[in-house]
Amino acid sequence: MAVIVVAHSKGGVGKSLIAWNLAIAKNTPILDLDYQKSLVFANKFRINNDYKAIKIMQPTSQKEFIDFLEEYPEDKDIVVDVGGFDSSTNRVALFIADIIITPVNEDMQEIAGLIKFHATLEELSTKMNKKVKAHIVINNVNPNSKDFAIVSDFSDKYELYEKLNTVIARRADFSKAMKEGLGITEYTKDSSNKARQSILSLKKEIDIHIKNMEKIDG
Ligand SMILES: Nc1ncnc2c1ncn2[C@@H]1O[C@H](COP(=O)(O)OP(=O)(O)OP(=O)(O)O)[C@@H](O)[C@H]1O
Ligand SMILES: [Mg+2]
Repeated sequence: MAVIVVAHSKGGVGKSLIAWNLAIAKNTPILDLDYQKSLVFANKFRINNDYKAIKIMQPTSQKEFIDFLEEYPEDKDIVVDVGGFDSSTNRVALFIADIIITPVNEDMQEIAGLIKFHATLEELSTKMNKKVKAHIVINNVNPNSKDFAIVSDFSDKYELYEKLNTVIARRADFSKAMKEGLGITEYTKDSSNKARQSILSLKKEIDIHIKNMEKIDG
């Protein structure tokens, strides 16, 4: 099992959007620690449109969260959508993650948010005596933007960050698909091809990371 945790202590960066699309692309359930429950709504639209519901688990306590993962089948992956706030359950999610995905765009404000989240990762790493690293994915940027040096330079400077190559642009088709209860990989509008490719690219990068990790673990 690989636990893919989409996390950032800053709100509104696209965690739920990415968790939703990634879980559908990978055909895995979602563990929802985001109190806004936006994915539950998307799932309702999905059911209304006669699609098979996504499994969304919403543990009500830290214990329920840990118990759930302990009983989870070894051969399946799971996507965890962490709320945009710091809490002990969210920290447990960061600690047990096989990979942490942290969405950001190139706004200065977002970069400042990354510094704060890095401090949390550092604190957790020290406490748990293990390097808790996050993979930055550029999300919700203007489709014409090409230069993300500011983010690359930043991740080079901070030990616990690594930048993924995938860039997910701001595209209306993401929310259009979600309003129909669909992931972008299920959405067949011609316009959605680039959005679809970006999610598939993220999935590929994550799958490679998981494979390498399994090799190291033997
Ligand atoms: N790549 C994108 N293209 C278009 N819209 C996007 C993209 N990424 C995020 N958004 C939009 O930005 C808003 C915030 O996204 P989302 O709810 O996924 O953020 P979040 O990090 O989960 O927020 P919270 O911390 O509050 O849970 C949503 O309206 C979402 O549709
Ligand atoms: Mg969210």
